[in-house]
Amino acid sequence: MRAAHAETTPRPFPSRRGLLGVLLTSVAALCAFAPPEEPPGKTPVLALTRPDGTPLTPLALVGRDVFGRAGCYHCHAVDSDGFLRGPAGEGEARWAGPSLQGVGGRYLDRWHVVHLMGPQAVSPGSVMPTFAHLASTTLPPTAAARVVALQGEQKLPKALSEAEAARALAAEGKALVRRVVAEGGEAPRADSELVALVAWLQQQTLAQEAAPTTPLPAAPKAFDAAIRRDSKALAARGRELFQQTCTACHGADGKGGVGPSLVDSMWRYGGTPSAVFRSIADGHPARGMPGLGASLPTDDLRALTAYVAVTLRLGK
Ligand code: HEC
Ligand code: HEC
Repeated sequence: MRAAHAETTPRPFPSRRGLLGVLLTSVAALCAFAPPEEPPGKTPVLALTRPDGTPLTPLALVGRDVFGRAGCYHCHAVDSDGFLRGPAGEGEARWAGPSLQGVGGRYLDRWHVVHLMGPQAVSPGSVMPTFAHLASTTLPPTAAARVVALQGEQKLPKALSEAEAARALAAEGKALVRRVVAEGGEAPRADSELVALVAWLQQQTLAQEAAPTTPLPAAPKAFDAAIRRDSKALAARGRELFQQTCTACHGADGKGGVGPSLVDSMWRYGGTPSAVFRSIADGHPARGMPGLGASLPTDDLRALTAYVAVTLRLGK
């Protein structure tokens, strides 16, 4: 049988004010979905490194505790080695949430903040409860000492003192908040549990990022001309796909949401059909946009390209 969290050893998390509230929220959420035959899992012992073996940063170490305290593992599977579990067959149905393996870098920091505050804002119909209380819960006063203790277990060549750990936590939190603001989001508290949790989530990267596989237009000028020529014929299919796949992030009319506006003529990666094709096919995974090249046939990629680069942009 595949190892599941039920077989892992519980780890006591430092108690603090607010723990009761967190528990009540999680328990309320659990009652809503837990199948009666599956008792809630024990707290898993999460890995102290990223999947590629590099050590978690101080803020991510603290965020790792938040993941345990908040009860995220009741819905998101963790393997017996302490890493988030990938797609697995057996017993998968018991997990109310998807695999979070490799979730790091898949979304913007801002996306995680918005999602944790209210999952339905970016994932309509999601059954994941809100974790907005983490935004107003500051890190426990023991956080810096906890980092020093965990760094001892990480066996770093140079361990931090408690004062250095406190400074590292503050600096990392502020840097993350600056990224959220640069991405157009509202600034969360830099010393909140929410920010630490996002730091941890963003370090759950895969050991090896998959290389882009989509064949890109070989002759961009000819491709651009063909897309412009065929845009009317492709628009209906393109619109349909756009509404299915893109509006959650780019807004119903492409005016922007978690992802940027696609109708303001401000292109980061280029607005020609071939550049837009490349954005759609390969995505910008490090900044929160998944690539669709592996999951959609080329005809659908062309239809989306025509819709975004020609029809939508010209408002036709
Ligand atoms: C009641 C079950 C439940 C709990 C508890 C829960 N989640 Fe989720 N989570 C879901 C579901 C369902 C989804 C898929 C829909 C969505 O994106 O909201 C999801 C999606 C996610 C995603 C996006 C995954 C992806 O690849 O799109 C992240 C990240 C995430 N959860 C993190 C967390 C964290 C962190 C916690 C704890 C603070 C948590 N979840 C607690 C059910 C849950
Ligand atoms: C999960 C959220 C998400 C989804 C779904 C998504 N995008 Fe994006 N998209 C983003 C983000 C975030 C960026 C900004 C990436 C960056 O700046 O590096 C982006 C960037 C882009 C760009 C580049 C814009 C530029 O300025 O050059 C294009 C084009 C684009 N998306 C089109 C699409 C299309 C078409 C779809 C649907 C097939 C889609 N996106 C689905 C989040 C998303």
